[in-house]
Amino acid sequence: MSTVIKGGTIVAADRTYEADLLIEGEKIAAIGPNLKGDTVVDAGGAYIMPGGIDPHTHLEMPFMGTTAAETWESGTFAAASGGTTLVVDFVIPGPDGMLAALDDWEAKAKRQASTDYSLHMCVNGWSKQHFDEMEKVVGRGINTFKHFMAYKGALMVNDDEMFASFQRCAALGALPLVHAENGDIVAALQQKYMNEGLTGPEAHAYSRPPEVEGEATNRAIMIADAAGVPVYIVHTSSEQAHEAIRRARQKGMRVYGEPLIQHLTLDEGEYMNKDWDYAARRVMSPPFRDKSHQDSLWAGLAAGSLQVVATDHCAFTTAQKRTGIGNFTKIPNGTGGLEDRLAMLWTKGVETGRITPNEFVAVTSTNIAQILNIYPQKGAILPGSDADIVVWDPKLSKTISAANQKSIIDYNVFEGFKVNGQARYTLSRGEVVWHYGQNSQPQPGRGKLVKRNPFPAVNKALSTWKELTAPRAVTRSAEHMPIGV
Ligand code: URP
Ligand code: ZN
Ligand code: ZN
Ligand code: ZN
Repeated sequence: MSTVIKGGTIVAADRTYEADLLIEGEKIAAIGPNLKGDTVVDAGGAYIMPGGIDPHTHLEMPFMGTTAAETWESGTFAAASGGTTLVVDFVIPGPDGMLAALDDWEAKAKRQASTDYSLHMCVNGWSKQHFDEMEKVVGRGINTFKHFMAYKGALMVNDDEMFASFQRCAALGALPLVHAENGDIVAALQQKYMNEGLTGPEAHAYSRPPEVEGEATNRAIMIADAAGVPVYIVHTSSEQAHEAIRRARQKGMRVYGEPLIQHLTLDEGEYMNKDWDYAARRVMSPPFRDKSHQDSLWAGLAAGSLQVVATDHCAFTTAQKRTGIGNFTKIPNGTGGLEDRLAMLWTKGVETGRITPNEFVAVTSTNIAQILNIYPQKGAILPGSDADIVVWDPKLSKTISAANQKSIIDYNVFEGFKVNGQARYTLSRGEVVWHYGQNSQPQPGRGKLVKRNPFPAVNKALSTWKELTAPRAVTRSAEHMPIGV
């Protein structure tokens, strides 16, 4: 069976050109004029782009005494409906360790996913078991390990634990990821505001100011440099964090930054809403910031100092959020965005001229495929690549509303936003999984796990340089030593 996508304009990270695209089986077979296939997908007036990759999701995540309501089934279908063909989710080890948690995540995803998926592993402590399991985790196709510098008393790791884990990542050819907020200061500020009677969702933002993020981002970068490993900072939300990343990159450090579509488009005013539910639904960490931070993040995407736009999709229902009535520290942290990431970024980024269509493809797909070492299997429109494709129609517009979303939660943080640009078709390994206006349905069980190899090249370069410049003892012969001491 072959499919030809006809009449569209191919937009890749590096160029834009008109061509048809032939798919045979699950792969792109040819790109060129006048191609023929068994079935035709009409891309007239549309852009043909690599399917979106969302490298930061928490589907069914157990967190803060509850479990994120978005399931693998609803989440991956919501993704497909929005043009995203690969999600990368975080495995959180429980008391039985990393491998048991990985089995659990793989089983949930395999049963339910409509699109392909891949996994990161979290490191939430340090011991010989962590050291040993990390190698086995890499053997199972995970080349990224996430560290939380926040959530004190729960997921947080301290500097010594992080340094040990980063060194282990260096040895295994893995990339550490970091949630960078100073968890000690956050905990102290949370206590202070609760003591002062500030118990509402607005205090969530007060307790996590940008300095707390900037400090932790700097610290993570310095620890990575000391360990001789690149580092990827998730949900970069502030100028302070962006500044640390920018400065490190200028010094030649391999540091990556990932703003979220929420931080690019929503600001801290959301927490001042008089409606408690409205404000609590928007509680996530880091919180939404003052608008000046948005300008910094947009500039970073254009300049290349920030590389990826993700969502951190971690969707709780209003009922779950209400656990925090009277105590903002108990509001489950997390917001959704998986379904609307591309349309929001297209509308607020491409249509405004803040980024080009090619930069759009770079930050939603190609860059992260390269960072995660799955390029050009994913993130590319090239012969031999997986046919994960979105046929993007810039003329289809909609007003975002929970009333007609695929996500199963009962609200949408982008409610009322009018967006231009929608997926006319989304193809996952050559199969149409979303056709706009045609009542497409989830296909649980068709998504496949994407395994990722470690990165010998970058880690070798870093360790070679580190070895060449390592501290060495100065050899002194007897004649150059003080006499008689
Ligand atoms: O508030 C957030 N971001 N919730 C999900 C967990 C995390 O910190 O990424
Ligand atoms: Zn986080
Ligand atoms: Zn997250
Ligand atoms: Zn001498």
